[in-house]
Amino acid sequence: MRLQDKYKELRNTSAALLATNFYNFETLEGVLQAAVQSNSPIILQLTRSSIEYMGLPMAFQMAKTAINYHGVKAWIHLDHGDSYDLAAKCLDAGFDSIMIDASEKPFRDNISTTKKVVALASKYDACVEAELGYVAKLGQSTEKEGFTMPEEASRFVNETGVDALAVAIGTSHGFYKKEPRLDLERLARIREVTNAALVLHGGSGVPHTTLTKAIAAGVCKINLATEIKNIFMKTLKAKLENETEIDLRKVFPIATEAVTILVTEKLNVVNNK
Ligand code: 13P
Repeated sequence: MRLQDKYKELRNTSAALLATNFYNFETLEGVLQAAVQSNSPIILQLTRSSIEYMGLPMAFQMAKTAINYHGVKAWIHLDHGDSYDLAAKCLDAGFDSIMIDASEKPFRDNISTTKKVVALASKYDACVEAELGYVAKLGQSTEKEGFTMPEEASRFVNETGVDALAVAIGTSHGFYKKEPRLDLERLARIREVTNAALVLHGGSGVPHTTLTKAIAAGVCKINLATEIKNIFMKTLKAKLENETEIDLRKVFPIATEAVTILVTEKLNVVNNK
């Protein structure tokens, strides 16, 4: 099933898809094990940095092979694609879905950039996600206001034809200094006036009860990255503290398993279990 069709199927349910970033074989395996054990579909996301780290063919083929090997339903998605060229390369490689993030450009430029990518992606029958509003990226100020406006969201989706829209309703990327407060009324209003699947970026650190409320108010996809990196590295560090073993195949699994436990918990939340 195409991701865009899965989103449509989810629209009137109380469930969403979890979209997890992966960075290497171990985090990919950790995430997919959770999907296998939960018998749950999942989105695997790659950012430009992860693509540059592993190389596009390696990153994509590794994910594709792992999906087939484990027999899970999963889609490969470009997270925060920052250019038409990167989107084109990922579509050529076989990605199911791409995000074009022109959210820092003025509204009209965001529309025109997104529109071009939607036209390209349609040739591949791929799904497109865009972003409207200000969701602080890592290192950016979380003080700056820039919530998505429902009327603009409606115009944006109609003019661009995107399948999914990342909205700014109070989340940001990375860990939070204080508990995020989401504007769920705004979210519900955006859902009323658009037919795109709504995406919540910055899922790390958002309380599970809040995630459930966001899904009930219309979110179809929840992005999770920071918590995955964090649990992997923390577990590995603790393991290495008093470790003399140099066989990395005996060292890494504990960190991979920690990712599986984390992602299993999140899958229970998005699957409303
Ligand atoms: P976190 O790193 O805050 O989980 O956000 C992930 C994300 O939104 C990726 O686009």
